[in-house]
Amino acid sequence: MNAKTAAGAFRGVQTLRQLIPGKSNDTLTDHPLWVIPSGKIMDAPKYGYRSSMLDVARHFFTVEEVKKYIDALAYYKFNTLHLHLSDDQGWRIEIKSWPKLTEVGGASEVGGGEGGFYTQEQYKDLVAYAADRHITIVPEIDMPGHTNSASLSYPFLHYAGAETPRVRTDMKVGYSSFDAKKDTVYSFLDDVIGEIAAMTPGPYFHIGGDESHVTKKSDYILFVEKVGKLVQKHNKRMIGWDEIAQADIDPNSVIQLWNNVENAIKASESGSKIIISPAKKAYLDMKYDSISEYGLHWAGYIPVDVGYKWDPETYVEGLAKENILGIEAPLWSETISNSTELEYLAFPRIIGYAELGWSQSEYLDWDDYKERLAAQVPYLEAMQINYYPTKLVDWKKE
Ligand code: ACM
Repeated sequence: MNAKTAAGAFRGVQTLRQLIPGKSNDTLTDHPLWVIPSGKIMDAPKYGYRSSMLDVARHFFTVEEVKKYIDALAYYKFNTLHLHLSDDQGWRIEIKSWPKLTEVGGASEVGGGEGGFYTQEQYKDLVAYAADRHITIVPEIDMPGHTNSASLSYPFLHYAGAETPRVRTDMKVGYSSFDAKKDTVYSFLDDVIGEIAAMTPGPYFHIGGDESHVTKKSDYILFVEKVGKLVQKHNKRMIGWDEIAQADIDPNSVIQLWNNVENAIKASESGSKIIISPAKKAYLDMKYDSISEYGLHWAGYIPVDVGYKWDPETYVEGLAKENILGIEAPLWSETISNSTELEYLAFPRIIGYAELGWSQSEYLDWDDYKERLAAQVPYLEAMQINYYPTKLVDWKKE
């Protein structure tokens, strides 16, 4: 095998793994052989950013649970895992200079469970585990909204227009905010971003920026611009949900489209690259259908074929291909709290997003894909990965 980079060689090995049958297909000898088709494969990914997000804030997921997800992402040639590390219901990453974030803010989650957080050692272990599999971790601290757990830990962060912080275990959004006008808020964020950036070798820091419904627009813009400078100071490239395009952001920043295509167009016109993550197509936490066990459906149902039959390259009319950094499939965790439930929502749809991120549009065909998807059963079973056995696919059970 020839590859230009170690990551390329690693992805080539995944192709080989995918070609090896689950059971020996050799019936002629007593020494089983695992025969694979011969041929030459010249391959390269379509996008340089192929990602999933895991929300470890609404429900906490252990290091072992995250590693299991990373293993599967690596097998399907993803190269990024975005960790949503803070939200109204919980703060999940140890910050040594501000210990109450985890002592107070880490002790809750949706539904009233005990929450949890990663120590810095555990976070570094996750980053290294991912790096060994050529996966970059993108840490997200969501702000100025989605910050109830932080403001509960340190009340000076709280914005007067927001709801008074208290332990939140419900699923509401849009009621919390940092105070954009206080210098102490930015000194706090300098420490938080600095500690996380120092443990994160990857190039990105995600500032969230979504659904800050109680933050006055002028305060929101001021906040995003100031935090953008802090991210630069710590030598990271800022990513934010599409709302941050309302601010005057550095063209090196990346916009993650989840909701408003106009934000994506505006940002691309000023030079930013776009990550394509539309809730209606790419949110792994949307239910498959009305009888799905887990998930939400505010952006609609996403059956397995609907999740596959769209093209990130043409999803936003007027957005040039060169402006697209890649694709991400986010998994929000309001309704899931362990690997079995996580996998029920992620699999099999994540396998389709892997293909949308890797393969050129001319190779994307549902009828063809669903045969390949059906053949994933031996891998999923061997790895003890739970999946939603949609009737749209004729699963190749052993
Ligand atoms: C989001 O779904 N609020 C980014």
